[in-house]
Amino acid sequence: MTAQPATQVIRAEQGAITPSTPAVERAAQTLAAGGLVAFPTETVYGLGVDATNAAAVARLYDAKGRPSFNPLIAHVAETAAARPLARFNQAAERLALAFWPGPMTLVLSKLANCPVAELATAGLDTIAVRVPSHPIARAILIALGRPVVAPSANRSGHVSPTTAQHVLADLRGRIELIVDGGPTPMGLESTIVACLDRPVLLRPGALPRADIERLLPLTEAPYSAAPPAHVDEIPIAPGALASHYAPQARLRLNARRVEAHEALLAFGPMPVAGAEQAAAALNLSLRGDLIEAAANLFSHLRALDASGAATIAVMPVPRAGLGEAINDRLQRAAAPRP
Ligand code: TXA
Ligand code: MG
Repeated sequence: MTAQPATQVIRAEQGAITPSTPAVERAAQTLAAGGLVAFPTETVYGLGVDATNAAAVARLYDAKGRPSFNPLIAHVAETAAARPLARFNQAAERLALAFWPGPMTLVLSKLANCPVAELATAGLDTIAVRVPSHPIARAILIALGRPVVAPSANRSGHVSPTTAQHVLADLRGRIELIVDGGPTPMGLESTIVACLDRPVLLRPGALPRADIERLLPLTEAPYSAAPPAHVDEIPIAPGALASHYAPQARLRLNARRVEAHEALLAFGPMPVAGAEQAAAALNLSLRGDLIEAAANLFSHLRALDASGAATIAVMPVPRAGLGEAINDRLQRAAAPRP
């Protein structure tokens, strides 16, 4: 692979996707050769490499500008393919049975002979594993027949990409291939649950907490009040991470009115005071639907940032259901940064 690849974009035609769909075959061949391939999952676009190829994993960290102490999620085609990687306790078994394939990541004890490159797990004795449900992601994993580590396909510190165009904007010339499968259906990253001792919610995400809690109790992460600096790569503490957070705009959360020159990220049918003077305005969901809001969140943030406004006023979003993860991402994007 060359140092500066020309990034190709191939569309995966809608309809029946199989491991022998041309775009899927190309993706699997590129991965097998150590290349970097962005592809859609049901949550956000991932940037994948062959998880067993340490050199490819190193290139992945470099392409994203991601600190190598931030571990990656290993994606596999089915639960059976996760078993050689990690130890499943009873809670993990129940969660995998209920929610895989789907938008949930489990952090488990890594097995001694786990084939995933040490660099991908940042030297930890745990590993994050996920079985995505998106037909393109699944077909690529089946065609390759190996685990694929894939962070969100954005430059480190950016919001996650929900379209192939977002990936291209961040990573053109840094990766070999983008499989364009249209906008991702959910638009928020997977929910991460650690199943080491008791199940702990590490990151709220596209699988609502209540769905999990119907099955088993969740302990709060000890640091849940102040999320760790590097989850989602958006630094919480100034200086926690080298500045890669490119958006110019600051976020002003829970805005009840819009000030002159601000852009507006609205939610719901109620008009907000001063909306007519907004530099640009988008609504996460006019009908106040949190599923629709989650799907629109990252693309609306990117679009409002591109308007050039210095501040984006964000209307309050309820915390129920997917609102927990939406508010989590908004808070991270609004956090002070270097
Ligand atoms: O929906 C998703 O999860 C997407 C798609 C592409 O699958 N992936 C994603 O990956 O969001 P990434 O790398 O952007 O976020 C994964 C998060 C990071 O915050 C990382 O620190 C955490 O998972 N993580 C990975 N391995 C971990 C481990 N062993 N223990 C704790 N956290 C871990
Ligand atoms: Mg990410």
